[in-house]
Amino acid sequence: MLDTPFSISPNPATLFLTPSLKSAIHKVRYTIDKRQGLTCLLGDAGMGKSSVLRLLYGSYESQDGVTTAFLPDAEFTTPYAFVRSICQEFDISPRRSLHDQKNAFKDFIVSQAEIGNNVVLLLDEAQGLDTSMLEIVRSFLNYESNRAKLLQIVMAGQLELRNRLKLPANKALKSRIIMYSLLDPLSLSETKAMLAHRCEMSEMEVPFSDEIIARIYDAAGGVPREMLRLCATAFELMQVTEQKAISLYTLEQMLVAEAQSLDTDSQ
Ligand SMILES: Nc1ncnc2c1ncn2[C@@H]1O[C@H](COP(=O)(O)OP(=O)(O)O)[C@@H](O)[C@H]1O
Ligand SMILES: [Mg+2]
Repeated sequence: MLDTPFSISPNPATLFLTPSLKSAIHKVRYTIDKRQGLTCLLGDAGMGKSSVLRLLYGSYESQDGVTTAFLPDAEFTTPYAFVRSICQEFDISPRRSLHDQKNAFKDFIVSQAEIGNNVVLLLDEAQGLDTSMLEIVRSFLNYESNRAKLLQIVMAGQLELRNRLKLPANKALKSRIIMYSLLDPLSLSETKAMLAHRCEMSEMEVPFSDEIIARIYDAAGGVPREMLRLCATAFELMQVTEQKAISLYTLEQMLVAEAQSLDTDSQ
């Protein structure tokens, strides 16, 4: 059971699989299972990218014949730090230089291939990778047999990543991306189903009327994290005031108060 139905942590168990998410997951699985190399998951902040990566990580980690690593952020100062962090996730010991570290990684991938293992690297917040790091990602895709890539890479990132890939310097990497998935905002009916799913997991009824949900949907532009955040605040307000429902008037006041406090924060 969930402690709070409107939690905004990237817990894959709380995901409601919309057609857009299902299709994205399907494309990533295809790329990994068919050993096609690189796939990209793109979307604005709060659209569910990290949750999807965690879902995939959980399922591949427990699968025989697959060795998986997940890097949750991409705050690396140098290409060497980037490769060393990847190696660390695969339990490969640190080496003294970028060159040696890359070789150690290559040896690892080849030895995994020899025992029939598919190696999967999940990179979150990939919009944080600079051109030299993206070039390293590209070089990893050269590890291949006649039939398949030895390393499968999933990059998840905000739309900035797509712009970065369009730069001439990153053309070679862009051309190697097998499939893109773009996570769209939810529709209103998907939002209702998502909230119903979340509340069901917490063994409670959805505490909002359709009118309230529609207003939250509009205010948050269909972005799941933002909608859940507003739901959490509204639900909290109901509990504090011991009300069974929230009125549209109270919700409007809450939205105004939020907007004002955001203005104050940014000053
Ligand atoms: N389809 C969905 N169903 C339920 N919750 C969702 C859905 N999409 C996103 N969320 C929730 O929104 C929050 C933000 O998701 P997250 O994966 O961190 O997004 P991103 O990595 O794209 O910023 C998480 O709590 C996540 O569970
Ligand atoms: Mg994220």
